Amino acid sequence: MNPLVIAIDGPAASGKGTLAKRLADHFGLPHLDTGLLYRAVGWATANTGRMPAEAAAALQTADLDNPALRSDEAGQAGSKVAAIPEVRANLLKFQREFAHQAAGAVLDGRDIGTVICPDAPVKLFVTASLEARVERRYQELRERGADIIKPRVLAEMAERDRRDSERAAAPLKAAPDAYHLDTSDMDADAAFAAALAFISSKGFRSSGP
Ligand code: DC
Repeated sequence: MNPLVIAIDGPAASGKGTLAKRLADHFGLPHLDTGLLYRAVGWATANTGRMPAEAAAALQTADLDNPALRSDEAGQAGSKVAAIPEVRANLLKFQREFAHQAAGAVLDGRDIGTVICPDAPVKLFVTASLEARVERRYQELRERGADIIKPRVLAEMAERDRRDSERAAAPLKAAPDAYHLDTSDMDADAAFAAALAFISSKGFRSSGP
């Protein structure tokens, strides 16, 4: 059997990150949240004075542990540098190497099924309505103690959706063979169960208990 490479794409707050982590745990696979790479490049560009492409080339795995990368500002900064082709080119090798580990891997992002791992045996395109995603992100930010109003979350998410989908370089797009999962009315358990059923249909099963 070929290694199980699971490529997951979708917009912000679609549930793809939670799903990716659960699938990685379930199958005992390494997981890469590729959004963190772009967030780290955006953060380095703003805080170290490096140019974006140079920051991408200099990126170290330890840079991804920076808690500041979890903020919405880092998400916006990541989305901006992600439109620069040289930035994407400088992050390509690291992502491909991660995907080509012997055991397989789970990667989530915007262009995993289309550009990074076009040959992945399992591709998932996770979406949810803008309203559902705004509500999730708003609740998440409130739980973290952020002082934010919903219209601002909506405006920022709509702007990021537009930038990520309309850019020329590797825009957010479903691969033709991706399984579409709309999580608007699903909780994390239901999304996991649906993804698992699709993965089983491709002949992959967990070797664990
Ligand atoms: O998934 P995220 O919100 O952490 O991603 C932050 C930004 O990084 C996102 O708005 C667009 C960019 N990104 C990308 O262009 N390609 C990826 N594979 C992952 C993220």
